[in-house]
Amino acid sequence: MLAAMNQWLRRKTIDLDSIPHDQRLRPTLDWWHLVALGVGGIVGTGIYTLVGVGANLAGPAVTLSFLVAGLICACAALAYADVSTAIPASGSAYTYTYVVLGEAIAWVVGWSLILEYSLVVSTVAVGWSGYAGGFLASMGWPLPHALLAGPLDHGLINLPAILILVLVAGALMAGTRESANVNSVLVMVKIIALLIFVAVALPHFDIAHYRPYMPFGFSAHDVNGTAHGVMAAAAIIFFAFYGFDAISTAAEETRNPGRNLPIGIIGSMAVCTALYVLVAAVAVGAMSYTGFAHSPEPLAQILRSIGSGGAAVAIGAAAIVALPTVILAFLFGQSRIFFAMARDGLLPHGLARVGARGTPVRITALTAVLVGILAGLVPLADIAALANAGTLLAFIAVAVCMMAMRRRFHGPRLFLAPLPWLVGPLTVLGCLYLFFSLPHITRLFFLIWNGAGLIYYITWTLARRGAA
Ligand code: ALA
Repeated sequence: MLAAMNQWLRRKTIDLDSIPHDQRLRPTLDWWHLVALGVGGIVGTGIYTLVGVGANLAGPAVTLSFLVAGLICACAALAYADVSTAIPASGSAYTYTYVVLGEAIAWVVGWSLILEYSLVVSTVAVGWSGYAGGFLASMGWPLPHALLAGPLDHGLINLPAILILVLVAGALMAGTRESANVNSVLVMVKIIALLIFVAVALPHFDIAHYRPYMPFGFSAHDVNGTAHGVMAAAAIIFFAFYGFDAISTAAEETRNPGRNLPIGIIGSMAVCTALYVLVAAVAVGAMSYTGFAHSPEPLAQILRSIGSGGAAVAIGAAAIVALPTVILAFLFGQSRIFFAMARDGLLPHGLARVGARGTPVRITALTAVLVGILAGLVPLADIAALANAGTLLAFIAVAVCMMAMRRRFHGPRLFLAPLPWLVGPLTVLGCLYLFFSLPHITRLFFLIWNGAGLIYYITWTLARRGAA
């Protein structure tokens, strides 16, 4: 028992030079790959669809929800840049927590990250399938419902969702640098589409659409069984902002990480926050929020309502191109977290082996199969909130690590976040506020997931100690 408790508190030391050759990732990524990977992971389902969900919960003040979520994420991004440059090893928040706070807390963070990454990947794959199904139907090739939805959604299997996952996983297994290059081109497409939205919708801006600004108030509170208010919307819209954290999972594969990681993390966050606030402000100004709050494609809906059908088609097509980049960033991130946990012996060791091209082929394939099963069989449209819960915990952990490292980390420091005693507490308190603004059921599921993870971890460590 004592030996097991020692293991729970054990802290990891990082010595990249001591990692066996077949378990080493190759540093091939430059800062523009990282900015593209970050923007690729950030801009997706959130801005393309959740702007409507958010408007439904907060009214025109959804613009404020974007600002609040963006501010909290900006603080978290600074903490990530600080910690990831001091510990440039694969595994992101899981590895940082292992180094700074010990194995048991690292397990909880890793387990939460698995939840975050799988739910985002699966949800976005299912969302993409919806767009792809609509696109094929408009071309005169409709797919039967049985092949567009899983059994829990009165279908058989969600084939397009599985196909897009296989394609993206294949690109990742072919090599990190190659897939990062393709990603950079696709990222440009979705940014240009959002700029087109702003350019076309801005001339229709009417300040009257902003009155009343905050019809549901600020703090999260129940209206007809659903949490409403600026903070309730911010807790969901938070989904739109993360993805920059996936960059830190590429730390080990980054050239000159002291320079390139902060530029990648902070640069991608800055680009996206500016773009989001612009898109949200223009969206609310161009059409009364009640007109697009329930639309599955709010930006296209706004463009149609102002008579720009052609631009609406272009936005839909860009969404089909854009969403796979989110899948790529999160599939990449999840395979690296699995990889780091396997390399540490918390998951089977054989999974940590890298292939001839320096990429973790087995773990990428396993990850793709797991998220493919989820995406192919389970309807996941409403669980972005659950993915958010996992992410919020990871952000809190990274901010705590950043503060703890100012006291007792003696390795070389390549980037120090400014005002750490303001940025750290703001991240922790902001994330806690967002967490408690999430729906009850989400918080309950999150507790069950982590309870199950902890039972597995404690049983496994005790059994291992017993066998030793
Ligand atoms: N930020 C990502 C998105 O909005 C998860 O799709």
